[in-house]
Amino acid sequence: MVQTLALNETLKNRSVLSLMEWSPAEIQRVLYTARVMKQEPHSPAFRHALEGQHIALIFELPSTRTRVSFQVAVESLGAKAVVFEWGQSQLGRGEPIKDTARVLSRYVSGVVVRARQHETLQEWRQWASCPVFNALTHRMHPFQVLADVLTIWEKLGTMRGVKLAYVGDGNNMANSFLVLGAKLGMDIWVASPEGFQPDADVVRWATQEAALTGATIHVTQDAKEAAHQADVVVTDVFSSMADDPQMTNVKKEIMAPYQVNAPLMALAKPESIFLHCLPAHRGEEVTDEVLEGAHSVVFDEAENRLWVQKSVLYHVLADSSAVLGG
Ligand code: CP
Repeated sequence: MVQTLALNETLKNRSVLSLMEWSPAEIQRVLYTARVMKQEPHSPAFRHALEGQHIALIFELPSTRTRVSFQVAVESLGAKAVVFEWGQSQLGRGEPIKDTARVLSRYVSGVVVRARQHETLQEWRQWASCPVFNALTHRMHPFQVLADVLTIWEKLGTMRGVKLAYVGDGNNMANSFLVLGAKLGMDIWVASPEGFQPDADVVRWATQEAALTGATIHVTQDAKEAAHQADVVVTDVFSSMADDPQMTNVKKEIMAPYQVNAPLMALAKPESIFLHCLPAHRGEEVTDEVLEGAHSVVFDEAENRLWVQKSVLYHVLADSSAVLGG
């Protein structure tokens, strides 16, 4: 059976820097479309949705999953990806973003950017006349958490009310879970050491948003309290690529008590799942036993990057006349 999906017109031509600006209904629509795309990977309904379009993928920081999954998503919708490194373009020699963004907007219909600073993405959005998609900044990783909640929905059958314990560095992943969890009515716990907790303004924002959606938001320094009876346990590397490299060893020492290991997983529900956006540093933020263990769904999670990105690109960039049944 070929399913076609009406485009969500409120997402048309929208940039995606974080999910703060999205409504719960828009998020659910994108997740539903991602599931349909995954169930019917060869459906002709989506194959030509972006035909004739070009999308630039620009990386200031290394990437494996994001680079490949975005390229595959773009091309499986009938568009072409133009992938290049920041440092190998004139950006690396100091050409201003405001010039580059206006030039690329004449060539492509969307720009996917991975950058160290979130302000870099804001500058791209300010100057580009096409949608800009955040492929990770030090503050937000929106496509990763969309993939994560799709995985939760697939594995647990629901997102609302699910207790998610993020344990470790209060980084872009912690911020992004606070945002998406607040939107979707989840029970979000972030356990991080003092000085490495999520951004205070994001915690405040998520707490206010939670009052509207029925979500609950907890930020603690106690990893065991967070993991107790959790449905989902998540972590990320102790030192991110967007961090100051001089902090790497300091952070590793401070974060050591926040490792996700078998004793910590034993506090979660027996049917709980373990998520990690990858790449993982085995023996640091997670043990090999947990990463390779029965609770771990990290490769399904990695696969879901493809489906959520394909879905978002479809809703943001497809022309309804190019969509079968549209
Ligand atoms: N999870 C993630 O963003 O992976 P990459 O850094 O490989 O893109």
